[in-house]
Amino acid sequence: MIIAIDGPAGAGKGTLGLALAKCLGLRHLDTGGLYRATALQILRAGGDPNDPETAERAARALDEGVLGSPDLRRPDVGTAASVVAAIPAVRQALLDFQRAFANTPPGAVVDGRDIGTVVLPDAPVKLYVTASAEERARRRHKELLERGEASIYQRVRAEIEARDARDAGRAVAPMRKADDAVEIDTTDLDPEQVLARALAAIDART
Ligand code: DC
Repeated sequence: MIIAIDGPAGAGKGTLGLALAKCLGLRHLDTGGLYRATALQILRAGGDPNDPETAERAARALDEGVLGSPDLRRPDVGTAASVVAAIPAVRQALLDFQRAFANTPPGAVVDGRDIGTVVLPDAPVKLYVTASAEERARRRHKELLERGEASIYQRVRAEIEARDARDAGRAVAPMRKADDAVEIDTTDLDPEQVLARALAAIDART
């Protein structure tokens, strides 16, 4: 069983992915974490995330320790992740790992931007999770404040919109709803309601 979840930053893919994996006894892969870890390694080494060679080297040398770092959630790391994600050699370097993870029994819930379109185009269930930019920024802002970090709503919103534009506008594997994906707009839903919609969509497809 493989479930592909795509959608923009802050739409609730991660929360849904974890809940579905728990409910269905599957493994969960947050592929954004791979791009974030690539970016964090570059930033820590004082490198430039825009440089294709630096970025490819970092993606090929991903360190397990970095994958668990709380620094992955930093807003500057999210922005740098979106920059390295536009580099084709970085995406290629991370592809085999994602496919191997998904194809290992008993299967997986994999979330990202291009899972249903490029990474796992044959996934039997594809979900596209969205929410308004205003609501996504509100959630991120709240999350940052709860972690005790300084946050300005307008700035979070501008960052989210810039990231959406970069992720959807890049030439290689842009963020896009697969033609056969079920869309769930989470703007006015709580996590339990989102999970119920997703389970209903999965029932209908399997
Ligand atoms: O989901 P996230 O915010 O952790 O993702 C961080 C960035 O990584 C996102 O802005 C774009 C990139 N990304 C991607 O290009 N493809 C994926 N499958 C997952 C994330």
